[in-house]
Amino acid sequence: MNRFEDQVAIVTGGAQGIGFGIARRLGAEGAAVVLWDINEPLGAEAQQTLAGEGVTALALAVDVTRQAAVEGAVKTVLERFGRIDVLVTAAGITGQTNIQTHQVEPADFEQVMALNVKGMFLSVRAVLPAMLEADYGRIVNIASISGKDGNAGMLAYSTSKAAVIGMTKVIGKEYAETGITCNAIAPAVVRTAMVESLPAAQVKYMTDRIPMKRTGEIEEIAAVVAFAASKEASFTTGFTFDATGGRAVY
Ligand SMILES: NC(=O)c1ccc[n+]([C@@H]2O[C@H](COP(=O)([O-])OP(=O)(O)OC[C@H]3O[C@@H](n4cnc5c(N)ncnc54)[C@H](O)[C@@H]3O)[C@@H](O)[C@H]2O)c1
Repeated sequence: MNRFEDQVAIVTGGAQGIGFGIARRLGAEGAAVVLWDINEPLGAEAQQTLAGEGVTALALAVDVTRQAAVEGAVKTVLERFGRIDVLVTAAGITGQTNIQTHQVEPADFEQVMALNVKGMFLSVRAVLPAMLEADYGRIVNIASISGKDGNAGMLAYSTSKAAVIGMTKVIGKEYAETGITCNAIAPAVVRTAMVESLPAAQVKYMTDRIPMKRTGEIEEIAAVVAFAASKEASFTTGFTFDATGGRAVY
């Protein structure tokens, strides 16, 4: 399949983990991929890996919580490639976990919301003018099962991901009469650096709830995202796709 031939895709948080896996999949299907990540060395490494696989890739050091940085990065992409067909917003953090609400530090809550919610909003906001001009765009926001179910021990994260699902519904409706769609995907646990850094008890809590009795693979998430980001997914917007090994059946 070469569903993204001649297309340009931006992936936030694309230097590693799920974001990188998505960039790799879109690149393998023909997209030129631009990785926006705060981690510059990892971004450069990811760019090199993709280039080695024959993918046109560009890593930009971007803190997506900063409006000026995000808008500057959009300008750079348009100058370099002239178009933005796909935006996948995968940059995210969990913040503190395995604690109860009365133990959550307000500063930690703010940090999680600043990246997972505001950073996503800023990224989407910044690419929309180019997508509107082209009357085409695919926006895929990475939410989480925690945003649907609420994971005990993860107040800030679950709240932020519920906001992602809400934001996606609004954007989907607002641009439904254009060629732009906006959908989300809500994965259950996937073993990435983010999950490796969590307390074992929190990972057990999340994994125990998966009927398939296993964690997800990055490639499985990337496959669903690739569909939602493709031209084929033309009659679905504002929706949150599931990738939870049976945990969410709604
Ligand atoms: N791993 C899971 O189990 C899981 C499950 C559901 C949803 N998700 C979501 O998937 C997304 C990717 O998660 P992951 O597990 O691959 O995490 P990860 O930690 O491996 O990757 C996240 C990337 O985001 C980047 N990032 C952090 N702050 C940033 C900022 N301010 N600006 C730009 N980039 C920034 C990091 O440098 C990193 O490369 C996140 O939104 C996460 O919430 C993950």
